[in-house]
Amino acid sequence: MVSFSRFAQSVRTETAFDVLAAARRLKAQGKEVIELEIGDSPFPTSTSAIEAGIRAIRDDRCHYGPSAGLPEFRDAVARYMKREYRVDITAEQVVAGPGAKTFEQLFCEAFLDPGDRVLVFSPYFPTYPPNIARRGAVLETSTLEQSRDFRPNLDDVARFVASGPRARAVFLNSPHNPTGGLMTESDVRAIADLVRGQDIAVFSDEPYDRMVWHGEHHTILRQPGMFEQVVSAYTFSKSYSMSGWRLGFAVTSAPIAQLIAKLTNTCLSCVPPFTQLAGIAALEHDDAERDARMREFRDKVMRLVDALNRIEGVVCNRPGGTFYAFPNVRAVCERHRIRSHGLAMYLLEGADDRMGVACLGGECFGEAGQGFLRLSCAEPDDRLLRAVDFMADAFGRVDRIAAYLNANPKFRAA
Ligand SMILES: Cc1ncc(COP(=O)(O)O)c(C=O)c1O
Repeated sequence: MVSFSRFAQSVRTETAFDVLAAARRLKAQGKEVIELEIGDSPFPTSTSAIEAGIRAIRDDRCHYGPSAGLPEFRDAVARYMKREYRVDITAEQVVAGPGAKTFEQLFCEAFLDPGDRVLVFSPYFPTYPPNIARRGAVLETSTLEQSRDFRPNLDDVARFVASGPRARAVFLNSPHNPTGGLMTESDVRAIADLVRGQDIAVFSDEPYDRMVWHGEHHTILRQPGMFEQVVSAYTFSKSYSMSGWRLGFAVTSAPIAQLIAKLTNTCLSCVPPFTQLAGIAALEHDDAERDARMREFRDKVMRLVDALNRIEGVVCNRPGGTFYAFPNVRAVCERHRIRSHGLAMYLLEGADDRMGVACLGGECFGEAGQGFLRLSCAEPDDRLLRAVDFMADAFGRVDRIAAYLNANPKFRAA
């Protein structure tokens, strides 16, 4: 048997996909499961994208294309950025990607060498650590506090920037998965002021740019001088319900875009042209549909949060953005001496024989998430509210929790 690399052995993936598999297995065995584990849209793909995608396949737009993306796709994105965020860019500043996720890897390849240090706010999207580790770089964390609405600690950014030449990159994510935290314009401006002119690159992960529930989305790209050191990543997965098409884009300076296109060439070759043509149609024709769906998400997530706050021992902030509720369940965990992901898995597997709720423990997003749960709101409203009733009841079943912990001692809290 050949041995795996140290990197491959160390990789941890998105737990959401594991819980999804467990939920589907239980459903196949006849259990009723309310699925709040994965951050996917319950809506079908945006209407114009479907037609444009089918047409493009019929027209045989199914061959290789430029690694940076089709010129007409890059143009459409430039128009979108100007229209939505007053970010004035040309098509040369855009690179197409299969979603937002691969830009984490390409960003790290572009800017990091072994031993370089990267500041990440914790809890964090779980694929940041492996992509940083791929380059042998070192992740440092700054905790997002519930008492501050999960906004970044600017003192930590200042300390990081001043901490020497190996401090090379900062990862931002607003609106934030899993906490729902939102950076204000003053947060974004302060971070731009701290990094401007330093040899520090910023990865600004913005998949939830259309899911902002208070005020506006503030991208750091709008701050003066930021194109030269920021790569912002966007996706069609959430806004246009196109997660399976795999389409996104990055916006940056023209030279960085060129470099990322070169790196894209070495691993992906290109994003399928028919997918990009579907994306153009969504950007150009489906704003109204998109915005109506976003309003539905906002109403759903607020209803879910309000219901969660009625459970004894649960404290949940109203998210500034995203379709996630991130309730603090520390009191419940302490009462039963269980880790929060243990509590999540108990809700799915152990609380009841016929029914379960699938969600994630906050520690799936780094240790700072311990004591929280993450629930998406992809199910119909009546099922969301049933899930909350189920949780309230399940948290009180002392014997069931004890039995689940006996069978799964790894979830026992220290
Ligand atoms: C913070 C964050 N970054 C990146 C992604 C990846 O999205 P995509 O489907 O566009 O690759 C997600 C998806 O859930 C996310 O929440």
